[in-house]
This record gives sequence, structure tokens and C-alpha cells, in this order.
Amino acid sequence: MNAAPAITIERSSPSDAGEIAALYLASRGEALPYLRRVHSDDEVRGWIAHVRLATGETWVAREAGRILGFLCLDGEDLDQLYLMPGQFRRGVGSLLLAKAKERSPERLHLFTFQRNHGARAFYERHGFRLVDLNDGDRNEEGEPDALYEWRRSFSEEGL
Ligand SMILES: CC(C)(COP(=O)(O)OP(=O)(O)OC[C@H]1O[C@@H](n2cnc3c(N)ncnc32)[C@H](O)[C@@H]1OP(=O)(O)O)[C@@H](O)C(=O)NCCC(=O)NCCS
Repeated sequence: MNAAPAITIERSSPSDAGEIAALYLASRGEALPYLRRVHSDDEVRGWIAHVRLATGETWVAREAGRILGFLCLDGEDLDQLYLMPGQFRRGVGSLLLAKAKERSPERLHLFTFQRNHGARAFYERHGFRLVDLNDGDRNEEGEPDALYEWRRSFSEEGL
């Protein structure tokens, strides 16, 4: 018998805000240490609780009651996808992305930082295509970014 707890993908609830904010701060600190910090931790906690979770849809990956990662979706706009440090590369991001494709089955788009090579490889592995590169004047960190798009029709082109 497999006693390992299952990972579920669920809609977030307002009571998840503190855990999601802690995860977001830890994940960005681990994966994007070079980013200019433009908000304090308290500002980030307030933004997660009162803006980010109050807009669109937020989905969490949960295992044994603990949130391993989350994703925010505003229509076709995949706005945030972060996993807890120590949880990378075990398929959790793929589970969350599959939910985003289920919710927006025709098209998704997202921004990522150009230096985030791991995330870019992840999105490209999942069929996203690079739309354009920017020098950083369209994000508040001033960090060069990349716009990616996924369309369901991309997979049909390969048939
Ligand atoms: C990017 C992220 C969401 C990916 O989720 P994940 O659960 O780690 O990725 P998965 O295990 O589902 O990976 C699926 C495939 O994507 C590719 N991939 C994922 N991470 C990769 C990396 N760091 N480098 C190269 N390829 C990668 C691989 O092909 C991988 O398959 P494999 O492990 O069998 O080789 C996660 O690593 C993360 O939260 N990173 C830190 C925060 C971040 O950068 N978020 C994105 C902001 S835009």
C-alpha cells in the first residue's frame, strides 16, 4: 500500500493568504535572489491578502494540509506560479499548470524574467512560445523580462 499523501490542486481560500505570502517570499528569495526588492515583506503580505487573492482565481497544490505551491490566473493571464523551496522538480508546477490549461483551454500568456532560466525551460517544456523580450521597463523591478504564450492550436500544428 502506498502511504504517501496525495497532492491535490484546490482553489485557495482567504485563510491561505499568510501561508501563500510566506511561500511567495521564500520562493522568490531562493529562485530570484538577484531581483531588486521594491516592496517590504509587509507590503507583499497585504498585496497577497487584499489584492492578489481577491482578483481572478488562485489555485494551490496541497499535500498533507501544507501548501506546496500556488498559481494565479486572470482569464488568460497566468500571473504567478511559485513553489516552496525544496519542492522544485517533482512535478508540482506541472500539476498547477495543467489546472491553468484546464481553466483557460485556448490560450495562456505570462511574463517571466529573462534570467529565470529554470522557469523558461519549464514553460517551453509545456509548449509555451516566446513572444518578445523586453529591457525591463514594463515591470517594477526593472529586470529584463520575456513574454510567453501557449495556445491549444500549437499542439495541433505538430500533428
Ligand atoms: C518554475 C517552477 C514553477 C517549475 O515547477 P516544478 O514543479 O519545479 O517543475 P516540474 O517538476 O513540473 O518540471 C517539469 C519539466 O519542466 C522542465 N523544468 C522544470 N524546472 C526546470 C529547471 N529548473 N531547469 C530546466 N528544466 C526545468 C523539465 O523538463 C521538467 O521535467 P523533468 O524534471 O522530468 O526534467 C518551480 O521550479 C518554481 O517555483 N521555481 C521558483 C519560482 C519561479 O521561478 N516561478 C516562476 C515565475 S515566472
